[in-house]
Amino acid sequence: MKAVVYHGAYDVEVDDKPLPRIEHPEDAILRVTTSAICGSDLHLYHGSVPGMEPGQTLGHEFMGIIEDVGPEVHEVKKGDRVVVPFNISCGKCWFCRHQKWSQCDRSNPKGEAGGAFGYTQLLGGYDGGQAEFVRVPYANTGPLIVPDSVSDEQAIFLADIFPTGYFGADIAGVQPGDDVAVFGAGPVGFFAVMSSFLRGAARVFSIDHEPARLEKTKKLGAEAINFNEQDPVQFIKDATKGRGAICIDAVGYEAVGHHKAPQVKHPAYENEDPLQVINWICQAARKFSNVGIPGVYIGAYDQFPLGQIFHKELQLRMGQCPVKNYNEQLMHLIEVGRVDPTPIISNTVHIEEVPESYREFDRKNGVTKVLVKF
Ligand SMILES: NC(=O)c1ccc[n+]([C@@H]2O[C@H](COP(=O)([O-])OP(=O)(O)OC[C@H]3O[C@@H](n4cnc5c(N)ncnc54)[C@H](O)[C@@H]3O)[C@@H](O)[C@H]2O)c1
Ligand SMILES: [Zn+2]
Ligand SMILES: [Zn+2]
Repeated sequence: MKAVVYHGAYDVEVDDKPLPRIEHPEDAILRVTTSAICGSDLHLYHGSVPGMEPGQTLGHEFMGIIEDVGPEVHEVKKGDRVVVPFNISCGKCWFCRHQKWSQCDRSNPKGEAGGAFGYTQLLGGYDGGQAEFVRVPYANTGPLIVPDSVSDEQAIFLADIFPTGYFGADIAGVQPGDDVAVFGAGPVGFFAVMSSFLRGAARVFSIDHEPARLEKTKKLGAEAINFNEQDPVQFIKDATKGRGAICIDAVGYEAVGHHKAPQVKHPAYENEDPLQVINWICQAARKFSNVGIPGVYIGAYDQFPLGQIFHKELQLRMGQCPVKNYNEQLMHLIEVGRVDPTPIISNTVHIEEVPESYREFDRKNGVTKVLVKF
């Protein structure tokens, strides 16, 4: 079968790989119909994630048709159309029984957090779903059946980024009437804006420097702040009469630092500043508020503004989204037409075009979300 394989930094190729097999009685084999490229895949693409080994099939956002199931699978059957959370969760350990799906104790013998598809060895090294077929472990727990009225183009977002955007708003404790600042207008930021409005936010500020992305969050009702043109902290302070906003970081450690000098643009992230967003948030956050950080951070950072966090009594909450806590409810919102995730899609490609799509998504340039059709 064809699969998108990591060969090293900036080197992703389409390889022929053997078909996956049932390895455990609770496995299912999924024939992938739609898959997607995520901002988290870009961290891999940049070669900046520890424990990433050549040969790994990429892709943690996928859906499709169940092709085969092991003898202990009873929650799905051959022919079911499902979307699969990126977290791999056994469903039975202490953490799964307490709905902390992203910290499953059984799915990742190689590391502390739970397993995930198509990611580093430190998250279990499972092959992912940017491929024609994928093995889905613990198939009684992960796959969510998709109603006929919901298209692939809508349901695919329930594998990761719609739940993750919602998770950002949830851990930030967004309440009706809050003013919310979402840093990053990429796919996760887009869904964090949508989710903040779903939770009753009064105003949502969307901060980025990519005009095409800000256009999309503006259409959701957000007030766009291009940080190349305006100081986001000052804007948020002025707009909230000095009180500040509930803040969500949908950027993570590959944040572009803001410098008054001419911007050095992507692709090489030469002007990266992993603490740029955290520093802005510490200044713009409402005192005594929660900060939601779905953006990924890796490693240790110097000069973390702990004093300001203490002084303003900010509570930081971060980590992998436990997708299963949100995907079913968000599916229902899509099913009844309350929300439509599809405007974030900019490109739909075939698997052969995926290596080029990684390059394009990395450069941004109007690319907001790439779907892969099989
Ligand atoms: N916690 C989770 O479970 C989870 C799940 C999915 C994605 N993520 C993470 O969420 C983050 C966003 O994902 P994505 O798919 O939207 O990625 P993306 O790379 O497409 O988008 C990131 C956006 O941030 C913008 N940006 C860069 N520097 C900025 C700054 N200083 N201020 C404001 N915006 C800035 C970029 O221009 C870009 O539009 C990534 O770190 C990704 O790994 C986490
Ligand atoms: Zn993702
Ligand atoms: Zn578990």
